[in-house]
Amino acid sequence: MTPPVTVGVVERWRDRLPVTEATPVVSLGEGGTPLLPAPRLSAELGCELLLKWEGANPTGSFKDRGMTVAVAKAVEEGAEAVICASTGNTSASAAAYAARAGLRAVVLLPQGGVALGKLAQARAAGARLLEVRGSFDDALDAARELARRGTYVLVNSLNPHRLQGQKTAAFEVVEELGGPPDLLTLPYGGGGNTRAYALGFDELGVAPRIVSVQAVERAATLASAIRIVAPAHRQEAEAAAEVVSVSDEEILRAWRDLAELEGLFCEPSSAAGVAGLRARRPEPGTRVVCVITGHGLKDPATVDRTAPPPVAVEADLDAIAEAAA
Ligand code: F0G
Repeated sequence: MTPPVTVGVVERWRDRLPVTEATPVVSLGEGGTPLLPAPRLSAELGCELLLKWEGANPTGSFKDRGMTVAVAKAVEEGAEAVICASTGNTSASAAAYAARAGLRAVVLLPQGGVALGKLAQARAAGARLLEVRGSFDDALDAARELARRGTYVLVNSLNPHRLQGQKTAAFEVVEELGGPPDLLTLPYGGGGNTRAYALGFDELGVAPRIVSVQAVERAATLASAIRIVAPAHRQEAEAAAEVVSVSDEEILRAWRDLAELEGLFCEPSSAAGVAGLRARRPEPGTRVVCVITGHGLKDPATVDRTAPPPVAVEADLDAIAEAAA
């Protein structure tokens, strides 16, 4: 068989991950995501802003970096099924990597709290979707308990292999910049990703300042990916990072500006890092990396809040020209 051209995070960072020759590679080509300059937002903020575009991962979010490791380890351990609770991205990723590995996936979702694209992804991959009448936090409690009883391997970020895979994003940032940024900002939901970056930087012997940005109204934010009341990694995340809270208006403004000023269409939660930067302005000239965690196509419904719908016109040149002006 010809070797695959695309190398995922397990093959790329094998020496730094908890894998052996007995661990299968379960990859969709995750990692290696772009680090994009943001010239207009940089000018506004008076800093050098770079966007780590994690929406470029195979299922459209950073979760894939950790899922490739967690699912590979589950297979190595002889598992037949994985389970997770999710606001949507973890379930999309778990469903895809489970399909890739030939495992069954069960996902517990907060009823009515998951964006359309994410539901479609998990359904398309053949996962068993259960909508829990409750919050993400309720769903996570149930997933943990079911995993404890056996049968299922938990692939939430409480599974340590998830954080191991996710730390590779920090390696990429340092490699590409030739050193750490002065500041890294990212959204703060359960805090797993904050921990993963801190872990990755620590392993390289660097310690950039980290700012984790949460919604003021954790339980009801329109940024559904981070609608989490009790962060599972609160203690470690808040030891590693400074926490900034932003309103939904601030998140929406950052989200719209990323698309309109920089051409980057992410999901609302993913813009929290930029909103946090505006709230807590960096020193002039600071080199900042902001992690843009998930793709905008996951949550098309939110576009209705900020952008006008298409305008219907007759198939007539003059009518089209007039409407286009
Ligand atoms: N950004 C996106 C797009 C997310 O989906 C999540 C979490 C976060 C940021 C926050 O990361 O929890 O490590 O602090 N999504 C989880 C899920 C909860 O179920 O997909 P965190």
